[in-house]
Amino acid sequence: MRKIFIAGNWKMNLTKSEAIALASGLAAKSSSFGNVEVGVIPAFVHIDAVSAAVKGSPISVGAQDVYFEKNGAFTGEISTDMLVDLGVQYALVGHSERRHILKESDELLNKKVLALLARKELGALLCVGELLEERKAEKTFAVIEHQLKTGLAGVDASHVDRLVIAYEPVWAIGTGLTASPQQAQDAHAFTRATLAKMFNPDFANKIQIQYGGSVKASNAGELLSQPDVDGALVGGASLKVDEFVGIITAGAATKK
Ligand code: PGA
Repeated sequence: MRKIFIAGNWKMNLTKSEAIALASGLAAKSSSFGNVEVGVIPAFVHIDAVSAAVKGSPISVGAQDVYFEKNGAFTGEISTDMLVDLGVQYALVGHSERRHILKESDELLNKKVLALLARKELGALLCVGELLEERKAEKTFAVIEHQLKTGLAGVDASHVDRLVIAYEPVWAIGTGLTASPQQAQDAHAFTRATLAKMFNPDFANKIQIQYGGSVKASNAGELLSQPDVDGALVGGASLKVDEFVGIITAGAATKK
């Protein structure tokens, strides 16, 4: 049985003291998380402080990005060694804002996934998802398949426990528009079937596939009760303790 994994992507938000307050507020409520895995993904500059604030709670800490080179002249970038040193457990790769605003290529994203999986301490959370025009042109599945195949090229099936996929339709991110539970389920089932072909059925059965895009406490229960939706990657609604805890408790109530 796959556990539900709900992660809050804080993006480029919060001052250090705000990040600490949010992390501490969540840690204080962690007894209500039930069986749900919960993570927070602060900006790099807040990782240390947030890790200290959630210490002793079951909340994991991730990074919003990583660079694939080990070290050297890559101004502004952050290596896997640096993440491990901070106690980070996973990093996002290919968030739609990195794909579409920062123009990161499929090839670069694949190198990041492989760099993360090369470190046994780290996991990779690969985001995939279509633009509105791609959905309208009925290219949703083709886009997901392409992003999975390019992003996960060279990945070994044995790494399934350190890999998470987030399906995030770009038109639903930060827009207030949410995929319907059926749209989410269809994309997740397609993702799982694609992974079964790329790797094997056991891999596909084990991997957690999160949904992302305007998830909030009021719609989380319906989304998370879909059979192939194993969690949520939450942006805006993860910036408020009560709203984020509402999503987590909705997840806990779905009892996969
Ligand atoms: P949102 O962001 O919940 O604010 O739509 C989701 C994401 O970007 O992961």
